[in-house]
Amino acid sequence: MAYLTKEEEEMLAGKHGEAKRLSMELLVKAVDAYKAERLIPIASCHLVLSFQKTSMKAGLEIAERFVELGAKCAVPTSIDTSSMDFERWEEFRFPKDFAEDQFRMKKALEGLGAIPTWSCVPYQGGGIVPRFGEHIAWTESSTAPYVNSLIGARTNRVGAYEDLASAVTGRTPYYGLQLDEERLGKILIEVTTDLTHGDYNVFGTWLGTLVETKVPVITGIPVEEVTSLDLRYMGASGAATGSLALYHMPGITAEARTVEEAFGGRKITERVEFGPDELRKTKEGMNSIPSGNIDLCVIGCPHLTIEALVDLANKVKGKKVKVETYALTNKVAKDMAIEMGVAQVIEDAGIKLNTGCCAWSPVELCGFPEHFTVMTNSGKQAWYTPSLLTLLRPGKVDVMYGDVDECIEAACAGKFEGRY
Ligand code: F3S
Repeated sequence: MAYLTKEEEEMLAGKHGEAKRLSMELLVKAVDAYKAERLIPIASCHLVLSFQKTSMKAGLEIAERFVELGAKCAVPTSIDTSSMDFERWEEFRFPKDFAEDQFRMKKALEGLGAIPTWSCVPYQGGGIVPRFGEHIAWTESSTAPYVNSLIGARTNRVGAYEDLASAVTGRTPYYGLQLDEERLGKILIEVTTDLTHGDYNVFGTWLGTLVETKVPVITGIPVEEVTSLDLRYMGASGAATGSLALYHMPGITAEARTVEEAFGGRKITERVEFGPDELRKTKEGMNSIPSGNIDLCVIGCPHLTIEALVDLANKVKGKKVKVETYALTNKVAKDMAIEMGVAQVIEDAGIKLNTGCCAWSPVELCGFPEHFTVMTNSGKQAWYTPSLLTLLRPGKVDVMYGDVDECIEAACAGKFEGRY
């Protein structure tokens, strides 16, 4: 392979150990598959192999084998969500054999020297904050749009196993969003309707299905009102319904200060409007049923950071939920919430802080009826719930989407009255 550096050639030849040889073999195949030019060094990595529900036994065996081979992360590497809360898994009724596998995965990843962030917002969970322009290899649909767009770091949506190979070698294929050209805008999206904070999930859901792999340039977002939390939800929703990994919002995101700059001075050939009709129809489509009783309410996909936990505490103070309700967060945010007293307020309302855990955790194994209904404030979760919460046990799951206020109201009433 003419493009390999001397060190990379040595890794491929096994001179730096079997784990690096296996990893380099995988990366060389990835270079071919992506038609990449070569490999490039990376500054950091984020691993999604952590999620036992989808890694299953095969993922676990690979992670443990790498530990046996003496592999270590060559660059700072954070860990994505777990499939369960490591401290409260029994309270959440996870089966023991599943929990044992998830604990083995924890031991293996931490044995590789990865940072135990256990979060899909690792940049706010004690993990790594990349810098503008830095080449990194990060997995997980909610992280890539954020670090590419808001920070201006460069990552493709790296898949499981490739992430491990990158962590161990400190390399990633040089293609896609690592390249200047591929980061330019391809489609203009004009938002012509007012958006509430919750509506960013709806906009992201619509955006993902529309743009597929094209980089959108978005106008019409009020700079003074939109929050980084709104954009986290928007990016995660768009990455779930499509392949959104980078967007430009001139004046808000990191890379392009004007629409012209976002398109690299090229002519705009595609332009689509997001107006009140698109907002209403998309929101309607995010519900598999329009109203009804709920069995589980989940808030915090992506994970709630400390400011979101404070906001949640303010909203639920003095209220009491009637159905099982989880607030997903990471350990760093939870510890701060405990110190600030807001964790107690949330728990007093009957909402359980579910730490390090993903919205796709195997709740279908946790004692819910064969046909159950989930209420969520996340576009990403609304999209995946009907398929992913039946993965390990056949059945049917309905989903209803609402903003945080609607979720709290529904959880306190035990049902969502709908809005149409
Ligand atoms: Fe995070 Fe899992 Fe949602 S990784 S974005 S909580 S689906």
